[in-house]
Parts: sequence; structure tokens; C-alpha cells
Amino acid sequence: MSKLKRTHTCGQLRTKDIKTTVNLSGWVNSVRDHGGLIFIDLRDRYGITQVVFNPDKGKNLYETAQQLRHEYVVAIQGTVSARPAGTTNPNLDTGEIEVYADTIEILNKSETPPFEIGNESNVSLELRLKHRYLDLRRPIMQKRLIFRHKICQTIREYFDRLNFVDIETPVLTKSTPEGARDYLVPSRINLGKFYALPQSPQLFKQILMVAGYDRYFQIVRCFRDEDLRAQRQPEFTQMDMEMSFVDENDIIQVIEGLMAIIFNKVIGKKIATPFPRISYKEAMTSYGCDAPDLRFGMKIKDISDIVKTSSFKVFLDVIKSGGQIRGLNATGCSNYSRKDIDDLTAFVGQFGAKGLAWFKVEETGLTSSITKFFSAEILEKIKQRMDAKSGDLLLFVADKPKVVCQSLAQLRLHLGHKNKLIDANTFNFSWVVDFPLFDYNEDLKRYEALHHPFTSPHPDNLPFMEERPLEVKARAYDLVLNGVELGGGSIRIHTPEVQKRVFRLLGINDENAYKKFGFLLDALKYGAPPHGGIALGIDRMVTLLSQLDDIREVIAFPKTQKATCLMTDAPSEVDAEQLKELGIRLV
Ligand code: AMO
Ligand code: AMP
Repeated sequence: MSKLKRTHTCGQLRTKDIKTTVNLSGWVNSVRDHGGLIFIDLRDRYGITQVVFNPDKGKNLYETAQQLRHEYVVAIQGTVSARPAGTTNPNLDTGEIEVYADTIEILNKSETPPFEIGNESNVSLELRLKHRYLDLRRPIMQKRLIFRHKICQTIREYFDRLNFVDIETPVLTKSTPEGARDYLVPSRINLGKFYALPQSPQLFKQILMVAGYDRYFQIVRCFRDEDLRAQRQPEFTQMDMEMSFVDENDIIQVIEGLMAIIFNKVIGKKIATPFPRISYKEAMTSYGCDAPDLRFGMKIKDISDIVKTSSFKVFLDVIKSGGQIRGLNATGCSNYSRKDIDDLTAFVGQFGAKGLAWFKVEETGLTSSITKFFSAEILEKIKQRMDAKSGDLLLFVADKPKVVCQSLAQLRLHLGHKNKLIDANTFNFSWVVDFPLFDYNEDLKRYEALHHPFTSPHPDNLPFMEERPLEVKARAYDLVLNGVELGGGSIRIHTPEVQKRVFRLLGINDENAYKKFGFLLDALKYGAPPHGGIALGIDRMVTLLSQLDDIREVIAFPKTQKATCLMTDAPSEVDAEQLKELGIRLV
């Protein structure tokens, strides 16, 4: 243990402390040898303090100071002094003072780090993740993780105040379907059997409602083996909650209250509640996706009905095969070059679009390489439908609804960014509601739950659920912030009869249902109250509120795109002995 136990942090000293003797500990952020005086910036989580070594204070002290290199860990004792006129540093909280060292102790040396521990990082993410201990030492990363902590702390206080109980649910458990693949854990004691890591605590929180806890919340890790895109990690954190005797509006109000408090307490901003609600249908129709970015307009419009009398074969063929022609108005973009349009065509191509039909709007009317296939009357109708005026560029995709939605949703965002239509400083919340309960999977030729299989159908739709499953509305709601799905939840099924009907529609017969979810079906038999809840992605929330793009910036030890941890090298091979114990042979 150092003799120089610290008395202050490196971010604490001010002019009122001048003349006091202090002990500081921290990392050497920089060393400047001015031949005569040595200056170091000493850094800890709280800030930076300049420490000065004067040769007059003794040979030993000065010689030790001469050995200092970046990231050495030192403890010093010294006297706080005012910085000489003209040398104060307004960028530092401690910039008015410096500490004249009397004693120094080197607590540990450091090899030259592979990158500078500064706020700018121009090194690859790979290098940062490999040396995450150094990356996390950067003040900006510390700020991000502390910000995350504050948000979590606010969440805990809020739910505690509202009488919610924080209850832990198991990590070694049985599959909870949320649409991803499970991570499996072999059981040594029960050879040939596996636990699944939870994709969410969904079933346990419902069981807690059956058990009468009334209000549950948890900040909890979830595991999903899915293809990793931006905003997704194989393990991530949810703010998970569930309430009994509630409807959609109760859950929505609690979450709006939470977001308002987080903004107020952590960011110092006021946000307006209630958040606007838009239906799933409107989201898909006008924005092509179920998590629309409502910070700008550029709504998608359908012109299938107008162009069906044209002679443009591409459009006619698509309409004949049950497809549609939809597009958007890139306002003021009629000056785009051939190359610009080719680039946009290639862009939508990534999402399956086979082409991008375009019209430039000029004083004289619409111009394009394909106008010859459209009568003047049709062109005028297109112009009106698209609210087009001179100087605009109209872009259309003709395809199956899925391709049209995907490519136009992405094109809209792309143009929104490219043309600077999005104010990065606004936080735009909305609820997407009135989801369908089921989706039809064309490839597997079966119905799937759009959320999860425990979501309650709208009671009015129960009578025709089996006849017209795709028309059944779910009592589900998603929270969207700036075009990112922040959370999703629903009112649940609370009777075994309805739960079994939904399982059957999903192709899970009663026998299989009992095998997989018997405990839930049993629990629902013993007085399950009506209940509902929601889960918000904490990683996504912190990323958005920090105005960052990559969730890995707010997770201390994230995985790469290939689900590996570059620091620990997980996943890794295991001993033959371990496998044998688990009864596992590798092929
Ligand atoms: P859902 O599957 O919508 O709902 O998940 C809730 C929220 O968790 C976040 N999220 C993720 N974040 C990072 N990486 C991932 N791989 C990932 N997957 C999901 C998203 C998402 O909105 N049990 C239900 C909730 C409920 O019905 O109460 C559930 O898990 O922000
Ligand atoms: P083509 O007849 O292939 O020369 O295409 C003429 C124009 O129609 C080009 O601008 C193409 O990008 C566009 N186009 C072709 N297929 C589609 C489609 N499926 N949807 C929208 N535009 C298309």
C-alpha cells in the first residue's frame, strides 16, 4: 500500500485549495520536460491535474520524475499553487491551479500503450476491443459508462417509487421464444440435456404476475443467437417490466413517465408527453417500416392505381403479379445527375429492388427516359399524388410489397441523411400500435407471431382468429425513438384456452405446447390475473441518448460482428476432458 493515500481526486482542486498539502494518485497522461521543470498531467476518472517537479525539491524526486512515461501509475504529495499568470488552462476544471510535488511514488509502470488514451480515437475498433482496459480508460468512454449508470439508476429509483419489485429471473432456463436462436448450455448432471439462456425473461415475469407480485421490473441480460447488425448484440440488457390488472394505456403512461424523468434528470431536457401513436398500417404505408423515423417527412405514396393504365411494361407486370408501385418525392433534387440516380438505383438494389424509376419535375412537367410510356394525364396525376413541384425528383420502386417497403424505407432514410433533413439534436418518440398478431412466413409456409406467442389478440377478433388469422390485431405496442425500435411489449394472453388456440395457429399442437410451455399453461390455470408489460433495450437507449451510432460504444465489453470477444478470445475451444464430462463429441 502506498504511503501516499490520496486526499483528493485529480478533478477536485480549485483556487480555494491553494497552499494546502494534498496527495493525488492516478495515471500519467502526459509528460513535458522543460529542462529545469518537469510537468505531468495526472489523470483519474474525475479529471486532470497538472503536477510540477522542481529539481530544487531534491535529486531523488526529480530523477524519479524523469523516468515517468505515459500511463505510469503514480502517487504524489505536493502543495497546491496558483498557476502563473498566462498559464491557466480554461479547458480544465483544475486549470487555475497546479500542484508542486514534494514526494512521488511510482506504483506501477506501463508499457507504451498501443494507442493514446485521449478522447480522439483514430484506431480501429478491433484494436480498441482487444485492449478494452485501455480503451475504457479513455475519459470519453468513462463518461459514456457513467452516463449509462445514471440512466439505470434513474430507472431503478423510478420503479421503486412506483412500487415495482426488482426480482431476478434465471439465466439457466428453458427456451423463451423471441424470434432468435437460443444459446444452449449443456448440463453435466443431466447428460444429453441442455439449458437455454433466456432470450428475455418473458415467461418468468408473467409467472410473477400469476404469483401476485402485481408490479415487477428488472434490468436484465438477454441472450439471442441472431445475425448481428448494427444496434444488435448477442447479449444485451433490457429494462423489463410487467404489471397486473392493466391495459395498454397504463403501460404506455408508465413508460412515458420514465422517459420524461430520464430526460429531465440525466440530460436536463424536457420532453413532451404523451408521445404520438401511429398504427402499424400507417407506419408501413407511409414509411415502409414499423419503426419510422418521424424527424422528417418524405412520406411514401402508392401510384399503382394511377399507372395501371400506362404502357410501361415493368409497372404493368408487377401489378399483374400482385405487386405495387410506390415512391417518394426527393424534394428539390431534380438537379441529380445520371450518376446520382444510378447510385440510388444501386442503393435500393441492396434491398432487392430491381430498378428505380424516376421523374424530374420541371416547369413544363415530368421528364424521364420513360415518360413515353405514360399519357400526359397520368403524368399529371402522378405529380399531384406526389405533391410535386418544379425542382423535385420522384423515385419509384415496383415490386412485391416487402421489397417495396424495405427499399423505400431505406431510400427515405438515405435521402433524409444525404439532404440533411434530419435534425440530429431532436429526440422524436412515437408508439407504433395496432400490430397484426400474426405474420405469414412465405418460405416456411406458416404463421408466425409478429411479437411473441404470448401477446394477446384483440378480444373483438377472437371469434374469427382461426378463419382469418392475418386480420387479427395484437394488443401490442412498440416504442420508437428516431427510427430505432427502443422497446416492445403487449397485454398478454391470460387464459390457457386462448394461449392454446394461438399455439395451434403457430403450428404448435397441444402436446408440443405442453412439452415446451407446460409450466405457463399450468400457471394460467390457477388464477392468472390480466397482465401486460414491456421491455426497453438499455443499450439502444443509452446509444441514442448519447447521440452515438454503435451500441458497442456504451457496452463495457461488447462482442464483434462475429460474436467474439477480442479481449478474452471467447468463444474458445475447451479441454477434451470438459467435453467428455458433458458427454459431448465434436464432429
Ligand atoms: P423485444 O424482443 O422487442 O421484446 O425486445 C425488447 C427490446 O430489446 C432490445 N433488443 C436488443 N438490443 C440489443 N441487441 C439485441 N440483439 C436486441 N434484441 C432486442 C430492443 C427491443 O425493442 N419479452 C419482450 C418484451 C415484452 O413483451 O414485454 C421482448 O423481449 O430495444
Ligand atoms: P429498363 O426498362 O430496364 O431499361 O428500365 C427503365 C427504367 O425503369 C430504369 O430507370 C429502371 O431503373 C426502372 N426500373 C426497372 N425495373 C424497375 C422496378 N422493378 N421498379 C422500379 N423501377 C424499375
